[in-house]
Amino acid sequence: MEVIFIAPLHKLFTHFRFLLTLRSQEGKYHSLILFRLTPFRAHPCNDDHSETKIDEESTLGPKLRAAYHQLYVMESACPHLGAEMTHADIEEYEDTVIAVCPWHRYDFDLKTGKSETGLRTCTYPVEVRVEDRVEKVYIEGPSDGSGWRVVELRPVSEEFADPPSQQTSKDASEQQVNDEATVSRENEPTIPLVDPPKTLMEWAVLILNTPNPVLKVERTKHAVHAFRTGKLTSIGNKSSKAPRPPDVPPREEDFKKNIVNPGKVKKRRNRAAMLHALANIEQWAIDLAWDIIARFGPMHKDLPAAFFSDFTKMALDESKHFSLLVSRLASLNTPYGSLPTHASLWESATATSQSFRARLSIIHLVHEARGLDVNPTTIDKFRKAGDKESVKAMEIIHADEVTHVTAGHRWFCWACEKGYGGGIEPGVPVDPVKTFREEVKRYWKGEIKGPFNVADREKAGLAPDFYEDLRGDVELELEPPEVTEAEIPVAYETK
Ligand code: FES
Repeated sequence: MEVIFIAPLHKLFTHFRFLLTLRSQEGKYHSLILFRLTPFRAHPCNDDHSETKIDEESTLGPKLRAAYHQLYVMESACPHLGAEMTHADIEEYEDTVIAVCPWHRYDFDLKTGKSETGLRTCTYPVEVRVEDRVEKVYIEGPSDGSGWRVVELRPVSEEFADPPSQQTSKDASEQQVNDEATVSRENEPTIPLVDPPKTLMEWAVLILNTPNPVLKVERTKHAVHAFRTGKLTSIGNKSSKAPRPPDVPPREEDFKKNIVNPGKVKKRRNRAAMLHALANIEQWAIDLAWDIIARFGPMHKDLPAAFFSDFTKMALDESKHFSLLVSRLASLNTPYGSLPTHASLWESATATSQSFRARLSIIHLVHEARGLDVNPTTIDKFRKAGDKESVKAMEIIHADEVTHVTAGHRWFCWACEKGYGGGIEPGVPVDPVKTFREEVKRYWKGEIKGPFNVADREKAGLAPDFYEDLRGDVELELEPPEVTEAEIPVAYETK
C-alpha cells in the first residue's frame, strides 16, 4: 500500500478539519476529509502552532501516535447521496468515533467506515512518524491509482478553527462595512419571501439572476452554507424541472452604463483601476461557478456530488475575492461600478455553453490558468506601491485560484474518461492532453500566451504538454486592445 505524506503534525494544530485533495500520476482525484479531534493543547509538546522538535524517541509506534492525536481520514463525499462530510457531526462512544452525515444523519465509523445503515465509506489509516525529530502525518493512499500526492490541504472553515479566530470575525464585520460603503445593497431579502429555492439548481439560477453584487455574495454564502450543513439536501440536477440559467447574468442599470468594449479598458495605471478591473472579473467569476453548476448539472446527470462541492466552493471563494477587492477599493475611495468595465469573459462562457469539456478547457484551463501566470506580476506591482493590504488580498486570491484550476483539470479529466464530447451522451474515453488542445483550437482566438507560471500550473495538474506551442483557430473578430508599457496584466485577460 502506498503511503502519502500529508503535512508536519504542527501544521494541523490550527483547525479540527481539513479538506485534502489527492491526485494520482494517472490524473485520478480523491477528495478526503481529515478530522483532528484532540485540541492541540492536549499535545504534550505544543502550546503554540509552531514546530516543536521531539527530543526523545517515542516508544509509541506511528499508528498509536496517530491514535493518540485522534487523527482520522475518510472520503469527503457521503456514500449515500454524496453530501459533503466537512460539516458532519462527530460523536464519540467509548472507543468508537462516528461521523454523522449532515443530510440524512447516516453515521459512519471513522475507523472502519461502516455505517449501521449497511453502507460503507472508505477510511484511510493514519500514521504519525517521527523524522528528523519532527512529527509528520502520513496516510495509506487509495488503491485505484499510484504516485498519489496532496494537491490541496485546506482548513474547512473558521467555524472549525482552534482557537476560534476573533480577528477574522472583526475583519469580516469591517469588511461588511466597507462593502456597504462602496456597493449599495438592494432592499431584497437573501432568501426570497415568495417561492424560495429548494434545490442547489434553483439557488444557482437565482444567484445568476441577481444583478446586485452584494446580494449575489450574500446569497452565495447562504446557499453554500446551507448545502454544506444539510439545510439544503437536494441538488436537483436530475429533475426535469431544473430551471434554466440566463444566457447572460444581468447587471444593474447603473453598472451597465459603464460596460464598454474591451478595447476601451486599457489603461490600468493606478491601483484603483487595477482593483476595479479585478473586482469586475471576480463578479463574473461568481457567475461562472454557478453557471457551470446550473447549465451542465442537468446536461450530465451522472456528475458526482464532488463536482457540486468543488464548484460551490469556487463560487464561495470568488465571492470572498470580490468582497476583498471591493474592500480595497473602499480604502481608495473608489466605488465599485464607477469605472469602465467589460464583459468579455462572458463571451467565452457563451461560446462554450453547449459543451462541458469546452467550458472547462476555456474558462478554467485557459482563462483561470492565465491568472496563475499574471498574478505574481500584479502582486509585485502592489508591493512596489507599498500597498500591503492589496498584496495580502491578491495572495489569498492566487492561492485559491490554484485550487480552481485543479478543479478544472479534475473535471476535464473526468469528462475525457467518460468520453463526453460536445453532447450529452458518454462515449469512449479520450486522452486529456490531446483533447484539451483540440478544444482550444476550436474555441480560442490566437496564441496561448506565456510566460507561464510552470510551477503553479503543474500544481494544478497542467503539465507543459497541455499548453505549450498552442494556438486557437477562431478568427479574431475584434481589434486586440492597445497595450502600453504601463499596462498591468490582469487575470483572465489574455486576448
Ligand atoms: S446520509 Fe449522507 S447523503 Fe444521505
